[in-house]
Amino acid sequence: MNFGLNGKIALVAAASQGLGKAAALSLAREGARVVVCSRREQEIAAAAREIATDTGAEVLPMVADVTNAGDIRRMVAETVKRLGTVHVLVNNAGGPPAGGLMDLSDADWEKAHQLTLMSTVRLTREVLPRMVAQHWGRIITIVSISAKQPIPELLLSSAIRPGILGLTRILATQYAKDNITVNAICPGNVLTKRQEELSRARAADRHMSFEEYLTDSARAIPAGRLGRPEEIGDVAAFLASEQASYINGESLLVDGGLAKGIH
Ligand SMILES: NC(=O)c1ccc[n+]([C@@H]2O[C@H](COP(=O)([O-])OP(=O)(O)OC[C@H]3O[C@@H](n4cnc5c(N)ncnc54)[C@H](OP(=O)(O)O)[C@@H]3O)[C@@H](O)[C@H]2O)c1
Repeated sequence: MNFGLNGKIALVAAASQGLGKAAALSLAREGARVVVCSRREQEIAAAAREIATDTGAEVLPMVADVTNAGDIRRMVAETVKRLGTVHVLVNNAGGPPAGGLMDLSDADWEKAHQLTLMSTVRLTREVLPRMVAQHWGRIITIVSISAKQPIPELLLSSAIRPGILGLTRILATQYAKDNITVNAICPGNVLTKRQEELSRARAADRHMSFEEYLTDSARAIPAGRLGRPEEIGDVAAFLASEQASYINGESLLVDGGLAKGIH
């Protein structure tokens, strides 16, 4: 299937590793020209090189902290200057830390709000006028299963991420007339560096080895295994495709059947 992304320009935030990098790789494989950003210069440059080598696509690395409004403005302006526009935006960021109510300070809440919600607000606000002007756009935000099924030890994530689903639905309704779709992906447990760190901490809490913990987690997932980053990346590329033009305002669980209930 041809996703119709050849020559489209995609901006993928927080993409030096993990789910952002996987989304950039899938989009590049579909022929998109991709800008990837993260805070660490060497890591984002290495990720861009790797994706370009794997796919033959043009991949531009940019150093930007998505919690910084100035960095977002500069990155979008630089993308437009070098590539002309943005057709596809993948909102992504690092995950907020684990912790319960009594462990987290006001500063922790404020930081998580900037990282998780405001990065999405600002990136989206910066690219939307261009998408409206060209009458074509795809906005995809990587959220989490925690937005649909709260995870007690991930209080910041569980409390803040549902706001992104509200934002997604409202923007989808408002901008559908401009041929722009706005959707969210809610991953379950996907084996990335973040997942490995969380799993190591949980394993230590439960006096288990990391390997035992992973086997246990896999057992709790109907698919019987954790997800692979490309299983999220490919969904992002599909949501960016022409074929997905009538999917709008959705928040799609990609979790191997982990979430219980009707979502
Ligand atoms: N993996 C999962 O199972 C899973 C499940 C549900 C939800 N999620 C969520 O999906 C997102 C990505 O997860 P992941 O597993 O891919 O995480 P990861 O392996 O920790 O990767 C995070 C990426 O974000 C970049 N980043 C972090 N903070 C940033 C900032 N302020 N500005 C710009 N870039 C930043 C990091 O690069 P630099 O360090 O170079 O900046 C890195 O490339 C997170 O929000 C996570 O909570 C993950």
